[in-house]
Amino acid sequence: MEIDPSATATVDEVLTTTRAVRRRLDLERDVDEEIILDCIDVAEQAPTGGNQGSRRWLIVRDAELKQRLADLYRDVIGHRMIEARDRLAGTGDPRERAMLSSAHLAEHLGEVPVIVIPVILGRHDGSGRPGLFDSVIQSGWSFCLALRARGLGTAWTTAGLAKAPEIKDLLGIPDDVTEIAMFPVAWTVGTDFQPARRHPAREIAYFNGYARTYERGPSDPVCMADGPGTVAETDIRADPAVVWARVTDINLPAEFSEEFVGAEWQDGHDSPALGARFVGRNTHPGRGDWEVPCFVNVFEEQSAFGWCTSDIDNPGARWRFELEPIVGGTRLRFRCILGPGPSGLDHIIASRPDLETRIIDRRMAEHRANMQRVVAGVKAAAEQA
Ligand SMILES: Cc1cc2nc3c(=O)[nH]c(=O)nc-3n(C[C@H](O)[C@H](O)[C@H](O)COP(=O)(O)O)c2cc1C
Repeated sequence: MEIDPSATATVDEVLTTTRAVRRRLDLERDVDEEIILDCIDVAEQAPTGGNQGSRRWLIVRDAELKQRLADLYRDVIGHRMIEARDRLAGTGDPRERAMLSSAHLAEHLGEVPVIVIPVILGRHDGSGRPGLFDSVIQSGWSFCLALRARGLGTAWTTAGLAKAPEIKDLLGIPDDVTEIAMFPVAWTVGTDFQPARRHPAREIAYFNGYARTYERGPSDPVCMADGPGTVAETDIRADPAVVWARVTDINLPAEFSEEFVGAEWQDGHDSPALGARFVGRNTHPGRGDWEVPCFVNVFEEQSAFGWCTSDIDNPGARWRFELEPIVGGTRLRFRCILGPGPSGLDHIIASRPDLETRIIDRRMAEHRANMQRVVAGVKAAAEQA
């Protein structure tokens, strides 16, 4: 069967633009019951374990009930969102926009036309096995998509569910039923929503084993032309500024890596900057000692620091630290991609072309082990600071 581009485009448009809508919820326009029920019918087509229909949907329209739910939401988290919005206003902090939106919802939750709470019969047994939630989350998301397709919007919220006993009391939900989310539902003000910034698939899709990335293909069998890469990452309980200071110290990895020994800035540079050059020194039991010229090709303050080796226009490898703010700290991701230019592997592959895949796999495993040591070392150093 051929892919029908127009059908794909319509579905993909909905899938990629269903945002958490808060400020653009239309609080004035009523939402017809039939639309909500249509969306639930769509959502109920989602798969369930054992094909058991165990989802139930609470539709709350009563003004007093909505206000009580809004009060609970505000008690749990809303007041902190409002406080954070006021504190961050005008500071240019990366969280400023999100807080503007979150605080707006916290202030107006009671005014939305409808609040929908999907629940599932049963309680999670805490076994860690797939189970209860796996039969309801996909349905909740289908509900959000169905709303979006009709010009309505919502935000997936769960914070208020910390008040589950009060919510159960308010709505008469039995103890052996679990609340999954609280959806404020309204028509959206305008329907033009954009895809958000997310990791590109090429960077987070791993082929035939964890952390194995390829810029192309991969071919069968894997070859250097595929741009093989690998990743090591860790979550650090420290601000991005602290982690940034560590990863931009080009000598720090030498404290942890078994291959990288140290580095010196060139051309009078003594600190990292775009275009700056340094020479890295390495050692390997099978290959002896060698040096490699490196060029800083990515320098985005507190966000990304990268360099390429050998030749800036045709690098032998590209290395990059990426920092992402997360709740309570920073996620550090260290990436390496081989090629496209010549590298130390070439003559090894030339001597045994039949083993190209195995040579690449083994080299990437070595790199990853060292990169893992480096991110663990950065974590330890940053958390101590
Ligand atoms: C499990 C989960 C819980 C969430 N809880 C809340 C919440 O309590 N309050 C809120 O305003 N947004 C909540 N969100 C919405 C996220 O903040 C939102 O999806 C994220 O910021 C990305 O924005 P986008 O969906 O527009 O791309 C939640 C999302 C998920 C998936």
